[in-house]
Amino acid sequence: MAKDITILGIESSCDETAAAVVVNGRTVLSNEISSQIDIHTLYGGVVPEIASRKHIERINQVIRKALETAGKTLDDLDAVAVTCGPGLVGALLTGVSEAKAICFARDIPLIGVHHIEGHISANYIAAPELEPPFICLVVSGGHTHLVIVRDYGEYEILGRTEDDAAGEAFDKVARAVGLGYPGGPKIDKAAKEGNPDALHFPRGKVRDSRYDFSFSGLKSSVLNYLNTEKMAGHEISVPDIAASFQKSVVDVLVSHAMEAVDEYHAENFAIAGGVASNSALRAAAQKACEERGVRFFCPPPVLCTDNAAMIACAGYYDFLKGKRSGYDLNAMPNLPLK
Ligand code: KG4
Ligand code: ZN
Repeated sequence: MAKDITILGIESSCDETAAAVVVNGRTVLSNEISSQIDIHTLYGGVVPEIASRKHIERINQVIRKALETAGKTLDDLDAVAVTCGPGLVGALLTGVSEAKAICFARDIPLIGVHHIEGHISANYIAAPELEPPFICLVVSGGHTHLVIVRDYGEYEILGRTEDDAAGEAFDKVARAVGLGYPGGPKIDKAAKEGNPDALHFPRGKVRDSRYDFSFSGLKSSVLNYLNTEKMAGHEISVPDIAASFQKSVVDVLVSHAMEAVDEYHAENFAIAGGVASNSALRAAAQKACEERGVRFFCPPPVLCTDNAAMIACAGYYDFLKGKRSGYDLNAMPNLPLK
């Protein structure tokens, strides 16, 4: 029998300091996440300089805890996988430096992982039977990508956002209606009390493109509505705005994704990224897949938002392919998905 491969994953691209120990890519022994949300909430969004500093303060404890919970030591590791981009440069640099130090000290392989590849890989952890090929909609605070996963580590990007990411739109609208940061979960909650058909907001279209997304028009439309109502002295219903806005985002995401599913005769469809924890998106994607007889995959919310188990999982498949990073690995804030 082949030897088990134990990988320490490290994630620090935004406001979560995370470490996880994962065996053979899919068995999660620990998944520690130290969130900075409380601090950034005070400023209404992520402050990059504060994020970097907090990562430095927390990363050693988070890694120690991940090893302890897993019942492992640094001696048990076969490799360290770390997010090297995209993300906030100072935040990424903390994880990358830490990973390099461990690998150098233990003389084990270092594997730089693309953050989006990590999000996609969360699906492998949640569904042990899932294998490529499949279509994946990646929706997070920084990214909105519709991707064909051809094989492990092999992607074809069908579409992406032209402007705001889906999560960014949630965060901006939440701020405008006074729900605060982070907007996604707050809009999701408020929407449950509202009527999604109370208001009609536009469904963003990108000319000559079936799979690209645009959310800035929708965001402006919500802001215009708020201003107009305020000037007229009308009361607004936050739950109705939240539900109607959310419906507009979900309609566009699911309709584009299903066009791709139909066009490519996909048998499997997955969602990933922080916005994939949105209850309306999960329900709508599940329904659309059921109608087509397509298998639907979505990780549990804790594996949708930033975590290090997904990075260790992606790193495992890179490890199997022999991919190794050198000690010149750097933080790459704008790293494109291959
Ligand atoms: O994947 P993630 O943790 O970080 C990035 O890589 O960006 O995603 C964070 C984003 C935020 O914009 C947050 O508002 C959004 O995911 N989000 C949600 C929900 N939970 C988190 N958006 C909609 N509904 C949710 N339940
Ligand atoms: Zn993310």
